[in-house]
Amino acid sequence: LEAEIQSIVQQFEYSDGDVNNAVKEFLRQMDEGLGKDGTSMSQIPTYVTGVPNGTEKGLYMAVDLGGTNFRVCSIQLLGNSTFTHTYNKVAIPKHLMVAKTAQELFAFLASEIKKFLEEHHSEDFEHHIRRRKTVSSPSGFRDEHIFRMGFTFSFPVKQVGINKGTLIRWTKGFDIPDAIGKDVCALLQAEIDKLHLPVKVAALVNDTVGTLMARSYAAPGKQGSVLGAIFGTGTNGAYVEKLSKLKKPLSGEYDQSTGEMVINTEWGSFDNQLNVLPSTKWDVALEKDSLNPGFQMYEKRVSGMFLGEILRLAIIDLLNNPNVSLFKDENSSSNDRGSVTIIAKDSGLYKQWGLDTAIMSTAELDQDAELAGLRQALENTLDVYAPAYEDAMAFKKIAHAIGRRAARLSAVAIGAIVLQTGKLDDPELKDEPIDVGVDGSLVEHYPGFRPMIYEALSVIDGIGEEGAKRIRIGLTQDGSGVGAALIALVAAGMEKSAS
Ligand code: BG6
Ligand code: GLC
Repeated sequence: LEAEIQSIVQQFEYSDGDVNNAVKEFLRQMDEGLGKDGTSMSQIPTYVTGVPNGTEKGLYMAVDLGGTNFRVCSIQLLGNSTFTHTYNKVAIPKHLMVAKTAQELFAFLASEIKKFLEEHHSEDFEHHIRRRKTVSSPSGFRDEHIFRMGFTFSFPVKQVGINKGTLIRWTKGFDIPDAIGKDVCALLQAEIDKLHLPVKVAALVNDTVGTLMARSYAAPGKQGSVLGAIFGTGTNGAYVEKLSKLKKPLSGEYDQSTGEMVINTEWGSFDNQLNVLPSTKWDVALEKDSLNPGFQMYEKRVSGMFLGEILRLAIIDLLNNPNVSLFKDENSSSNDRGSVTIIAKDSGLYKQWGLDTAIMSTAELDQDAELAGLRQALENTLDVYAPAYEDAMAFKKIAHAIGRRAARLSAVAIGAIVLQTGKLDDPELKDEPIDVGVDGSLVEHYPGFRPMIYEALSVIDGIGEEGAKRIRIGLTQDGSGVGAALIALVAAGMEKSAS
């Protein structure tokens, strides 16, 4: 068994040389995406031309359609780098992720917004209802009674203005072909208006952009954060780029005075060509049965939605190996560890997506001499009856190898972007940290994910140990709600200056 495990573990190794090659390719593909449309990494201009400094104030709404949950919140920005917020969170019903029409999904979102207003802002809400019909504005309300709402939509969108953008493709577990090419803000506004809610979709925000904004608001340094990144169900990053490097034409209005713009990289689709990404037979198997073959190749090796599935496929291979006795009943035959399986027939191990990545965190965390916690979790969540220590250890080693590869690949993206900004070499920032805000279930819950990222950052040419120490990767939880509110605030300013 040990030799077979080692052979699997080895295939997930991603050496220092591999990391450096991938960083070079990442920088090349970033540059390519800044030059033209239709590239592997989309490098989407967001029309957001600056990051906040913590002094911003006001009451805003934000909604956030991620990969797993839909959040609705209202945020009071207090102006001293702090805020208060109220929020509701619901799991997105699975059938809506693959609905026939976009309208079904957006009607659900609008009904959740209505519930939130009734629950948390009933006074304002009734006040609005009384006033409706007496005034004229897009939804029949006085302008000052309309909530400006930031819409965090965590999918690739071709943005053409601060609250306008068409869906390029679905990612993660979503697939509603009817929505492709449509303006997602208009789709949401139409459903909000059908319910006569006093809400204007004022800004369209990717979750990474929201995270970057929120991090810069809460932890302002001399120059804010350089990167907002998500390592959750999916993975992606947004960073501040110099306008001079953005060569492709922009169609919407934006403030040119800062000389910068936030770019949503959509790095989930870094290297769809597999020039430098590793590809084991289990990556290939996952790919073949995925919703979007050929796309999100980096995401499929890094993020929470996929790691459990890679692990499951590797374990199934071991189970099918006649030379290996894994998850077998010790008393079932004369050989050492039996021949009858202890895995229930309907165990998640036998179903696509049946192994939730969360158990990889349990495996990583369990340092018990008997691996008691992991064995219990295998029994509870995967219906493996009384697994032996050796079974749990095999599971743990393979899970670790997959998690470690994901962390080292994550360092490729973070490292490349830090190099792209040139901030490590800026003499004026000599003693300043280079700040990166991160969010998502993987980086939050997978033990040791950040230390493994740092280890890989320190071997990148041009960063090294000293550089890695200056990169400050901080968790920015639920950041995208606050970030969307901040962009709604910027948008409100733009509306005023336009009128
Ligand atoms: C949340 C952010 O905290 O993290 C969302 O507010 C983001 O915008 C999410 O999409 C990502 O994490 P996960 O694990 O839910 O995909
Ligand atoms: C996917 C989406 C991207 C999002 C990321 C994290 O990669 O395409 O827009 O930012 O998931 O949620």
